[in-house]
Amino acid sequence: MVHSFKMHKKIAIVTGASSGLGVEFAKQIDKKKILDEIWLVARREQNLKEVARQLKKSKGIILKTDLTKKQDIQKLIKKLEKEKPNLRLLVNNAGFGKKGYFQKILLKTQQEMIELNVKALVTLTYEGIKYMTKGSEIIQVASTAGFAPLPGFNVYSATKAFVLNFANALNEELKSKGIHTIAVCPGPVKTEFTKRSEGKSIIPKEATAKKVVAKALKDLKKKRWTSIYSFRIKILAMIMKLLPRKWIVEMSNIKNKGL
Ligand SMILES: NC(=O)c1ccc[n+]([C@@H]2O[C@H](COP(=O)([O-])OP(=O)(O)OC[C@H]3O[C@@H](n4cnc5c(N)ncnc54)[C@H](OP(=O)(O)O)[C@@H]3O)[C@@H](O)[C@H]2O)c1
Repeated sequence: MVHSFKMHKKIAIVTGASSGLGVEFAKQIDKKKILDEIWLVARREQNLKEVARQLKKSKGIILKTDLTKKQDIQKLIKKLEKEKPNLRLLVNNAGFGKKGYFQKILLKTQQEMIELNVKALVTLTYEGIKYMTKGSEIIQVASTAGFAPLPGFNVYSATKAFVLNFANALNEELKSKGIHTIAVCPGPVKTEFTKRSEGKSIIPKEATAKKVVAKALKDLKKKRWTSIYSFRIKILAMIMKLLPRKWIVEMSNIKNKGL
C-alpha cells in the first residue's frame, strides 16, 4: 500500500535503544535530524525512559517491546498502521550474540538470536518501508563477525552475515525509491554486549559506542554501503575477505577452542 505522507509526523525508530549503541543512535539522531518523534524500542522500560529524558529536539516515544515475541512486534506494526508516520530513519540495532560451540548453547538461545538478529530485523524493515518516502534511510547493525564463519560464535556470525548481505542487496533494490540502506559492521564496542555473550572479544581493544555511532551516521550521510569504525577493523575486514575461508575458520577456532 502507498501512503501520502505530506502532513504526517516525521519519525525515526531505534531498536535496542535501552543500552549501548542504541542509546547513542537515539541521542545522536536527536542532535542531527529534525524529527517529531524517535520511537525507542527495547524490553527495559526504565532505561528507555532515561533515554527519552535525554532527547532535546525530538520527543522520545517509549515502546516496551520484546522483539522475539510475535505479539509485541504486531503491536508495533499496529501503531505504524494507526499513526501512518513518515518514517525517515529506521535503525535495526537490537541484537545479541552468545559465545560457545553450537552443541553447548541451548537451542532456545540460538533460536532467540535468529528471531532477534534476523527475523525481527526483516519484519521491521518490510513493514517500515511502507512508511518511507524519498530520502528515508535504513541502518542495519551487522558486525565484523558477519564477514566470516566463526567457530565458537557460529550462529551469531551467521545471523550477522545475513544482515550484511540483506542490507547491501536491499540498498540496491531501494535505489529507485531514493531510500538508502547502510550496514554497520562494528568490531568490539564497550557495551553490555560482551556480558550477554559471556565471552571475551577475539580482538581485545574496544571502541566506544559514541565513536562507532558518529562514524555510522557520517557514513550514512555520505551514502556509503557499509560503515566500519577504525582502521584496524577495516584491515581485519579486508583480510577476512581475501583469505581462504578454511584458513579463517581454522584461525578463529584456535582462539575459541573448547568454548
Ligand atoms: N558491542 C559489540 O562489541 C558489538 C560488535 C558488533 C556488533 N554489535 C551489534 O550491535 C548491536 C547493539 O549491541 P550493543 O553492543 O549495543 O549491545 P547491548 O548494550 O547489549 O544492547 C543490545 C540492545 O538490544 C536490545 N535487545 C536485546 N534483546 C532484545 C529483545 N528480545 N527485544 C528487544 N530488544 C532487545 C537490548 O535491550 P533490552 O535488553 O532492554 O531489551 C539492548 O538495547 C547488536 O546488534 C550487536 O550484535 C555489537
